[in-house]
Amino acid sequence: MKGVVLAGGLGTRLRPLTSITNKHLLPVYDRPMIYYPLQTLADAGIRDVMVVTGGNSAGSFMQLLGDGREFGFRSLNYAYQTGEGGIAQAIGLARAFIGGERFVVILGDNILENSIVNHVESFKKQSSGARILYKRVEDPRDYGVAEIVDGKVVSIVEKPADPISDFAVIGVYMYDNKAFDIIDELKPSGRGELEVTDLNNAYIQRGEMQANEISGWWSDCGASIENLLEANNRAAEIRKGIR
Ligand code: DAU
Repeated sequence: MKGVVLAGGLGTRLRPLTSITNKHLLPVYDRPMIYYPLQTLADAGIRDVMVVTGGNSAGSFMQLLGDGREFGFRSLNYAYQTGEGGIAQAIGLARAFIGGERFVVILGDNILENSIVNHVESFKKQSSGARILYKRVEDPRDYGVAEIVDGKVVSIVEKPADPISDFAVIGVYMYDNKAFDIIDELKPSGRGELEVTDLNNAYIQRGEMQANEISGWWSDCGASIENLLEANNRAAEIRKGIR
């Protein structure tokens, strides 16, 4: 199983912190933000990883992460996304790296308290299709929101004004190789991006989407300065063993 970390985008919601650097290089307690999703992949037993970056300071990722030996990776690869064409476009850039394999994607601004290893193991046992993870949140309007019926995700709506549930789809996605052909067929959304929610809905329509609820704290720490502040405080507590 290979892994992909997405670290492109312009990080406009965190300006001026991101005016001259990439969001994923900002500190979260005692390490750069991107360390957390990389560690999540490493803890799930993933050894071959690609970082997709873009925008400001793209070269700094190589300087920071090198060949990935700090995380125990066998290989660490890099791709460059020109512009900000969306999460699904960024995933598409990993096509040659993934080859014929299945893979796990994690958004570079998502921090999880608990390991995803059990979910990755369940995905390995799945004969085909995709798997997403979700979590109940107080206000899901900033996220992809899942409609769940009898434990099955029947649809996802991206950032709804009037959410149908309080289940946020978190930024960890597992796909088989069909993902790339589906991405080729996606049309840009109203905000001009190829949306990961459209990719996930395509799997749902084919009846090939599995989903798990995660335990523990999770943050999309790039969504706002408040989320970033909270993530710094929580990461400090977790690291010091206070939580
Ligand atoms: O965090 C979970 C949420 O992430 C999901 O619930 C949403 O369904 C999903 O669309 C996404 O929403 P965000 O608004 O948080 O996405 P954002 O634009 O912040 O991008 C998330 C990460 O993906 C970010 O770390 C940078 C990377 N990215 C984003 C875009 C748009 C890229 O690498 N390239 C891109 O073009």
